[in-house]
Amino acid sequence: MAIHFPAIVLLAAAAALMFSVEVAAGHTFSSRLIHRYSDEAVSFWASKGKSMTSWPKRESVEHMRLLLSNDLKRQKLKLGSQKQMLFPSQGSETHFYGNDLSWLHYAWIDIGTPNTSFLVALDAGSDLLWVPCNCVQCAPLSSSYYSMLDKDLNEYSPARSSTSKHLSCSHQLCELGPNCQSPKERCPYTVNYFSENTSSSGFLFEDQLHLTSVGGHEHQGAVRAPVVIGCGSKQSGTYLDGAAPDGVMGLGPGEISVPSSLAKSGFVSRSFSLCFGKSNSGTIFFGDQGPENQRQSSFVSLDGKYNTYVVEVQHYCVGGTCPKQSGYQALVDSGSSFTFLPSEIFTKVVTEFDEQMNATRFSIEDFSYCYKAR
Ligand SMILES: *[C@@H]1O[C@H](CO)[C@@H](O)[C@H](O)[C@H]1NC(C)=O
Ligand SMILES: *[C@@H]1O[C@H](CO)[C@@H](O)[C@H](O)[C@H]1NC(C)=O
Ligand SMILES: *[C@@H]1O[C@H](CO)[C@@H](O)[C@H](O)[C@H]1NC(C)=O
Repeated sequence: MAIHFPAIVLLAAAAALMFSVEVAAGHTFSSRLIHRYSDEAVSFWASKGKSMTSWPKRESVEHMRLLLSNDLKRQKLKLGSQKQMLFPSQGSETHFYGNDLSWLHYAWIDIGTPNTSFLVALDAGSDLLWVPCNCVQCAPLSSSYYSMLDKDLNEYSPARSSTSKHLSCSHQLCELGPNCQSPKERCPYTVNYFSENTSSSGFLFEDQLHLTSVGGHEHQGAVRAPVVIGCGSKQSGTYLDGAAPDGVMGLGPGEISVPSSLAKSGFVSRSFSLCFGKSNSGTIFFGDQGPENQRQSSFVSLDGKYNTYVVEVQHYCVGGTCPKQSGYQALVDSGSSFTFLPSEIFTKVVTEFDEQMNATRFSIEDFSYCYKAR
């Protein structure tokens, strides 16, 4: 004889299922699952005097939406219980100002003690984090130069940060160390970028980067992580001319980069995410490994080294046409404003595009493939 237990257990949101438990005399246990949004559950609650009329009808759009939002909440809980991520203390948002700041993506970061904030360009194509500092030749920092700023940009001063310390020439991250006169001297740096004549130079320091943690076992909290910072006293090229006036955060795979430092200090895994939305907005998270079902491309080496993020492009398609053997290698670089193709690939793409276009072609300056839209 089956004894009907009165108990119907409604599990917490994490399980989202209702169990009706039956215990049989012959020591066999069986349980029947009733979905919390099923008609049966609704009539159960109705028998308890609770009205469930606000619950959406089965298989209606609202019903599906409710199921989906519960699934997503649960996935977030699961992800959150495993992986710690970090984002800049001023928020995970990235900013984009179009031509005003050379079409790059930026984030506000805080450095040092007391903290000073910087609007740094996010550059997956280089490694060093540098900010304008003890300026000899820096871009203008006054807000009057930048239409989208309501406050002046800051200059970093290691002497005024109680947590700063200089890197010596003997430090393992000091590339120019061998050029120094003595191993105890301050470590100088020079970074040259892909843009012509564009560079930053000065001395290397270590200081605290202020971050906020999410996920992991702890609640959201403040984290101060030691990172290497270039005290950029002398910039040139586009860095004096509208791009990254307040510094660059290198996100590359090199040991000196912020993602590498955070991983080395054990804060997060050696990964980060940059996600850009349609409305000039985006986010940055250190330690983000993406959803488990995310598809992956391996990075390939360039001259036998993995100094930058390079992927193998297997082929391209223009409309429905996908030429065979059209592969090439491409640099994944958040610090380049536009997409560049190898010239022979560019020629093939525009020729194919032109063949498919049914509009009058004309040229403007360097752009020879413009079309009159109807
Ligand atoms: C930065 O300094 C400001 C002003 O002193 C303070 O209010 C803020 O909490 C600090 N931020 C961090 C991340 O320490
Ligand atoms: C780069 O610098 C060289 C030498 O000073 C100069 O001749 C050249 O015009 C510069 N290129 C650009 C794009 O400014
Ligand atoms: C191309 O445009 C012309 C003029 O508008 C039109 O008559 C023609 O049908 C178009 N051809 C195709 C293939 O769309």
